Amino acid sequence: MTTIVSGSRSQALAAALADELGASLAPATYDRFPDGELFFSLESDPAPEFEGERVVVVASTDSSDAHVELLLLQDAAREAGAAEVVTVIPYMGYGRQDRAFEAGQPVSARAVARAISTGTDSVFVVNPHETDVCAFFEPTATAIDAAGVLAEPLPTDLDDPVFLSPDSGAIELAETVRDTYGRGEVDYFEKTRHSGTDVDISPSDVAVGGRDVIVTDDIIATGGTMSEAVGVLTERGAARIFVTCVHPLLARNAYTRLTKAGVDAIYGTDTLERPVSAVSVASAVAAALE
Ligand code: R5P
Repeated sequence: MTTIVSGSRSQALAAALADELGASLAPATYDRFPDGELFFSLESDPAPEFEGERVVVVASTDSSDAHVELLLLQDAAREAGAAEVVTVIPYMGYGRQDRAFEAGQPVSARAVARAISTGTDSVFVVNPHETDVCAFFEPTATAIDAAGVLAEPLPTDLDDPVFLSPDSGAIELAETVRDTYGRGEVDYFEKTRHSGTDVDISPSDVAVGGRDVIVTDDIIATGGTMSEAVGVLTERGAARIFVTCVHPLLARNAYTRLTKAGVDAIYGTDTLERPVSAVSVASAVAAALE
């Protein structure tokens, strides 16, 4: 028997996952104490009873509060008698700080992984920025590649499509989306990052004039990378330009930046529940859990 316990920001995905697994969804309350600390409770009347069960905690950690909330969910599951706690992290915050970039900095991904490890028997992370972050968890951690679902919302009539990644590191994502879509060329840009929000993109060699272009990345954060890519593609005469990502963080003015740059549509998944979350990773997560 499996029960799903959802973080406050992952409720749609948790419900979809419960559906996929034929599992029950634990009703819960998310609130705050008067001093601002987080309050979490599984429905208490009747008292939650998970004796001998597998409990799957599903929570994206896109803020410091969300990290703390995940620890509370894990503890509540144990407290209710779960025999096994499985933690699914649809979007792992701090995952991009996977090394100390300068002396004096922490390896933030490792720090949060250690904290999460204390409350779980196993961990699944959807498209972490680098799969190496899985090694920071002390129980077994498995990366789930959900990029294939990004082909689903794309129009079926793409004209001579080109699937691009904004840097060489994301080329496999672009290949996965192309393979799932079924046709098209794949290439990547060269990216130079100047700051947290400022990047330069050097055009790839592929000819994009008059063709539909799909740019895929693991995450859109500030939108700096994608808006630069869209700008270059617009200058080079691309027909329609779609941007797709697994994690539509869309921090600050990312949506506006992309719109101003001339994107035709933005498609993301429900690892982060945003207006552009056009497709669910539930089936990919369910397949990994079964
Ligand atoms: C970096 O290597 C990542 O794959 C993304 O390209 C990057 O984190 C996106 O950030 P932003 O939207 O702020 O440019």
